[in-house]
Amino acid sequence: METMGRRHLILGIETSCDETAAAVVSRDDHDNPVILSSIILSQIDAHKEFGGVVPEIAARAHLSALDYIIEKALDEAGCQLKELTAIAVTGGPGLIGGLMVGLMTAKGLAASTGLPLICVNHLEGHALTARLTDNISFPYLLLLVSGGHTQILCANGLGDYQRWASTIDDALGEAFDKTAKMLSLGFPGGPMVERAALEGDEKRFNFPQPLKGKDTLNFSFSGLKTAVRVTAHELAPLNPNDANDICASFQSAVGAVLVDRLRRSMDRYETENIQADKNIVIAGGVAANHYLRGKISTLCSERSWNLIAPALELCGDNAAMIAWAGLEHFEAGNLSSMDFSPRSRWPLDQTSPSLLGGGRRGVKA
Ligand code: KG4
Ligand code: ZN
Repeated sequence: METMGRRHLILGIETSCDETAAAVVSRDDHDNPVILSSIILSQIDAHKEFGGVVPEIAARAHLSALDYIIEKALDEAGCQLKELTAIAVTGGPGLIGGLMVGLMTAKGLAASTGLPLICVNHLEGHALTARLTDNISFPYLLLLVSGGHTQILCANGLGDYQRWASTIDDALGEAFDKTAKMLSLGFPGGPMVERAALEGDEKRFNFPQPLKGKDTLNFSFSGLKTAVRVTAHELAPLNPNDANDICASFQSAVGAVLVDRLRRSMDRYETENIQADKNIVIAGGVAANHYLRGKISTLCSERSWNLIAPALELCGDNAAMIAWAGLEHFEAGNLSSMDFSPRSRWPLDQTSPSLLGGGRRGVKA
């Protein structure tokens, strides 16, 4: 690419869970973000028979695939290692073995080329995706819902995130995965539950909507999960309709909880950020769910808010978001030292009291 030498080109590497990913991100001639390549290798098949991500298997799979995935990302972007500006890599939170593989590879590349290293918080990658895709400015409200996290944050600026809510027990993606497991729908559970729910009756079971009406923005999903387990147990052996109805009723309860918490977060945002644009961003694997997107979209229309929902391939784990967060940090002059150690826990908001879902990613099943 002719203009490449003058533009910042960032390689991103993501290995924090069960996707081995590499991407190259830059800005175009009008300074708009551009994804030049984004390669994602999912390890789903390697973990399927265990019903969840097995950390040791994940780390080994990253090790054997990462070099090839990086080469492919560079190839597709039409650039060579020496043309890059910096190397961004997920430094945490995540499974420590996978993080080590990514970090060691990134450090090796940085050391051998002399390129700067930028260690990115995986959650910040999700949080900044809307700036990559829609070029929005700070502040904005962020719902981050993935396999390890369920949080509402106010994104005030780069590296400046205020956590308003978190889960006090299970993460939302985990609740989807466990529901699928209880109903023997397969792994990963989220898309399976979504698919089954399409055929189900969401009014058949009146599942609990934990913490609804309480004076908190926090989430809890363990009671809902227990209700699913008890119902499945009572109905056993389940016929396909039973499973579909359970999924639809589960999803309906989740939708009601999200809308309740978001509505009250919008109230708070409107009070604290009177002049700001009313933008809400949804991110993380669960943000791929069409039913939940629909519920949040309706809420946004009622309240005259803009919903920024990334394309499905940018909701789940990917390296484009890591490369983009790296580019933002590079432009801000934030580089990492070569002695950066992987962090299994790394909350986005270091000042907020630690709840279970505050910055931890673990086995998804
Ligand atoms: O962000 P992500 O790819 O990885 C983590 O950072 O955890 O999120 C994965 C989670 C899994 O729990 C998966 O079941 C859930 O996102 N997920 C979904 C859907 N697609 C993925 N949950 C509900 N509906 C979906 N369509
Ligand atoms: Zn993620």
